[in-house]
Amino acid sequence: MFAKKLLAFQLLCLLFAGYIFTTCTRELAQDETSLDEKLIKQVKSASPNGDIRDYILVSGENLAEIPNQDPKNILNSTKIKLGKMLFHEPAIGIFPNKPVGMNSFSCSSCHIASKSFTAGRIQGIADGAEGFGNLGNGRNKNPLYTGDEVDAQGARPLPTINLAYVRNALWAGSFGSFSLNVGTESVWHQDTLTEVNFLGLEGLEANNIRALQVHRMTMNESLASYLGYKALFDEAFPEIPVSERYSLKTTSFAIAAYFRTITTHEAPFQKWLKGDHAAMTEQQKKGAGLFFGKAGCYRCHNSPSLNSFNFFALGVYDLYENKITEVFRTGANDKRVKGRAGFTGKPEDLYKFKVPQLYNLKPVGFYFHGGSKQSLREVVEYFNKAEPENPLVPKSQISGFFHPLNLTEQEVTDLTEFLENGLYDPTLEKYLPDHVLSFMCFPNNDMKSRKDLNCE
Ligand code: HEC
Ligand code: HEC
Repeated sequence: MFAKKLLAFQLLCLLFAGYIFTTCTRELAQDETSLDEKLIKQVKSASPNGDIRDYILVSGENLAEIPNQDPKNILNSTKIKLGKMLFHEPAIGIFPNKPVGMNSFSCSSCHIASKSFTAGRIQGIADGAEGFGNLGNGRNKNPLYTGDEVDAQGARPLPTINLAYVRNALWAGSFGSFSLNVGTESVWHQDTLTEVNFLGLEGLEANNIRALQVHRMTMNESLASYLGYKALFDEAFPEIPVSERYSLKTTSFAIAAYFRTITTHEAPFQKWLKGDHAAMTEQQKKGAGLFFGKAGCYRCHNSPSLNSFNFFALGVYDLYENKITEVFRTGANDKRVKGRAGFTGKPEDLYKFKVPQLYNLKPVGFYFHGGSKQSLREVVEYFNKAEPENPLVPKSQISGFFHPLNLTEQEVTDLTEFLENGLYDPTLEKYLPDHVLSFMCFPNNDMKSRKDLNCE
């Protein structure tokens, strides 16, 4: 009798527990969907056309859907393959400042794929440096070079990812004849660099011609033929006369074509936008909600790559003011310090820098144009406090959107998690070539780097 009663009691308990369990999980599931539904609404209202698809990146595989292409540089798969190799090819670096630098560097010395296509140190150095270390952190000036002889710029390298969404290249937007540079023609003659804009090209095509020269590289028929690239140029550029086919311009075009295919379309937020709601964690969804809501980040970061064609002053320090490491060839008089005004010469553009894309920033480790922040949490805290750090930037230039956000500690944590991992595509190494036709070591080919990179 007693045993029977106990059994009944146990059964009742079991049923009750089961009831609690199912209601709990049902509520949990409801919570999740309501979090997704809420986020969909927020992203929608924070998108340029009221459609969450505004934020979806192209995969780069279907060439026809890639935006902002240059009609002078029609994409084809051979061109992309050629650009992928030349971007990593130390054998085109034949104008070093000293003999020891010959063939020791490439574009990818400062744009390392596994470092989200940016440099391993706050300032990238190509010619005049040696070593690679771990992800480029062990690259330092070669003692045989003076600081003035190395190839380095006065800003943190921009990552060469999601460039299909960039029409005016560099932090100051100096390159490219269209988009925001329409109407700036009068300043294109100011130096030999921006004269390239008179060719009527998109930002990437224009930028790369100059980058090849600035970074001490070249291309011509005998080099293409010697290195084995001639057949690829022929297949990539059949419409260009042979006399012009193996040049800085076609090399630039091939690299620009390659750039347009590099997108972070496999990041969790991208998967979520395409309907895979399990791709983001609850915390990432909360962080995204802040990005597209309370924190107002979308006001400036609102394209598929989360950049925008705009320039703002946030009053951050410049590269020469960094306290981490010695930097070369920059200082208070560097034109880059003036931001967009360093290009346009207009007082209203002073200290304004372009709104950069926000994907795959986790491994970069240096943020803003001067690399003044070392973690994404510090960046979020900077926006939350909204106190400009650089006293040289007048308050009147600072953007009105830069104001205290009143985010709680927990909200700062959630927003940081969205930036760090919700926007992180771990598959970027798929954009690396298997080898370059010279079979040299890349990204760098100096003796120290060859050891660090296991090329010996
Ligand atoms: C010495 C380091 C270094 C090397 C080598 C280098 N870059 Fe860069 N790259 C930078 C820096 C720094 C910036 C940002 C400069 C600025 O905006 O003022 C940049 C910016 C860019 C941008 C602009 C991206 C954007 O979002 O606007 C492109 C495109 C680019 N580089 C392509 C190349 C190509 C192509 C090569 C090889 C021909 C190359 N880079 C070699 C350091 C380097
Ligand atoms: C007023 C427009 C504006 C708003 C609002 C804004 N940003 Fe930005 N953001 C920029 C500009 C411009 C830069 C580059 C500034 C510089 O380096 O001088 C930038 C840089 C960044 C960077 C560094 C990227 C890099 O490659 O170094 C991150 C991360 C970032 N923003 C995240 C956010 C987040 C998160 C929010 C919301 C809390 C936000 N931004 C709000 C304009 C804005």
